[in-house]
Amino acid sequence: MKKYWVVANWKLNHTHSTAVEWINSFMDIYKPSPSVAVGVAPSHTEIALISDRLKQYPDAALQVMGQDVSRFNNGKYTGEVGGFQLLEYGVSACIVGHSERRQYFNETDDIIIEKIERLLNYAIQPLVAVSEIDQVRAVCESSVDKSRLSWAYEPVSAIGTGNPADPDSVVAFINSMKPYTGEQATVLYGGSVAPANVRDYARLEGVDGFLVGNASIKADDFNTLIQNLYEV
Ligand code: PGA
Repeated sequence: MKKYWVVANWKLNHTHSTAVEWINSFMDIYKPSPSVAVGVAPSHTEIALISDRLKQYPDAALQVMGQDVSRFNNGKYTGEVGGFQLLEYGVSACIVGHSERRQYFNETDDIIIEKIERLLNYAIQPLVAVSEIDQVRAVCESSVDKSRLSWAYEPVSAIGTGNPADPDSVVAFINSMKPYTGEQATVLYGGSVAPANVRDYARLEGVDGFLVGNASIKADDFNTLIQNLYEV
């Protein structure tokens, strides 16, 4: 049986009180299955909350994740959140290199590689988001241990638009990644994944799960998306 990994990327959404509502209603309706591992990546301000709540459900195989990490270890870096701080809240995986970080915060491949190194130093699983093959190549040809990376292919035109990528192009891109990443690499697809289309993408060769933005903002949408995967 294939095991999917589904990650809620909340981006810059939810206050503390709406995050409390989200986790309460999600835990009311969510029925875990061994076929789907679930991650929740809130804003850094809500990591402690989600981490505490998930501890109350040790059998649910849910993980709290970071959306980003500092490329610095610690010290005089105002506004940054470091890997050691994520680790203390039980963060076991972290998105890095999201196209929104690249676009709005000028993150280059070199910066992303530094962030990956920071995460690996703390044994936090990097989920490296890429939209172009050059980004894959830059990471895989750097000194990072690529055998320890997971990936999310997110074409920019599909993110937040309601227009998911053409399925054939997703398969073709993932195939083109493997010579760099290694055949065994886990690759998620992200970009307008929704409860109604998740099964179509789940059946694609090479797709190991999903990075979900819009459809993770509401707990019931995200839960429906997960449950729909149980029937693939
Ligand atoms: P979307 O975002 O599901 O809203 O397209 C996905 C992402 O950017 O991670």
